Order: sequence, then C-alpha cells, then structure tokens
Amino acid sequence: MYANGNALISCCGITLPPLEASEADSEHEVKIETVEDESFITINHSMTKQHYISFAAFTTSDRIQIVKFYPEGNAETRMNLRGGGYLYFYCNRHGLMKQKVRQSRQGGQRTARS
Ligand SMILES: [Fe+2]
Repeated sequence: MYANGNALISCCGITLPPLEASEADSEHEVKIETVEDESFITINHSMTKQHYISFAAFTTSDRIQIVKFYPEGNAETRMNLRGGGYLYFYCNRHGLMKQKVRQSRQGGQRTARS
C-alpha cells in the first residue's frame, strides 16, 4: 500500500505509524547499471527466509514503480529510472531505506547518497 500524500492507515483498529526511511548503508548497498534503455538494479543483501529485501520502489514527483522480491530469490530488477528520484527498499530486519538516484549527463543513471 502506498500513498502520494498524507494517509491514515490502520489494521485491526490500530493506527499504523508511517515508516521513516534511513539512508542505504554499506550492508544494503545498491548497484545500478545501464542495460539497453533501462537500469539494472541490484541490492547486495542476504535473501534468506530470515533476512531479505521484500520490495524496491522507485519514486519521482509523479510516478512510482514497485517490484516485489521473495526470500531465496535475488534482490535485483530492471526499472526505468528516467528523470531521477528515490529508490526505496525494505529489509525485513533493518526497515525502510532509500537512496537518491540522479540522471547523469549522458542520459544514464547514477546514484548519490544525500
Ligand atoms: Fe538487512
């Protein structure tokens, strides 16, 4: 579930607090490579049933792309990162993280931590 603004979300009558994303750290490193006209994103992280990345979402001011990952799979996907924005991803042990993605001068993407 996602919202492009303020939202009040509850489960079983309990209001759920919003998740605050922390900056991606060295244990949750994101690698972005240009492949054809898209970007190949790899999150270097454990993908066991006990510790895994459950999704990645790329957001801009007017778009969102979400990809679900599964334990024992790979935390990698292709996305169109046109325009730059933020890549969010969720680790089941360490929570929500984000990394800024900027458009390079050559038209490809590069990442920058802010
Ligand atoms: Fe983690």
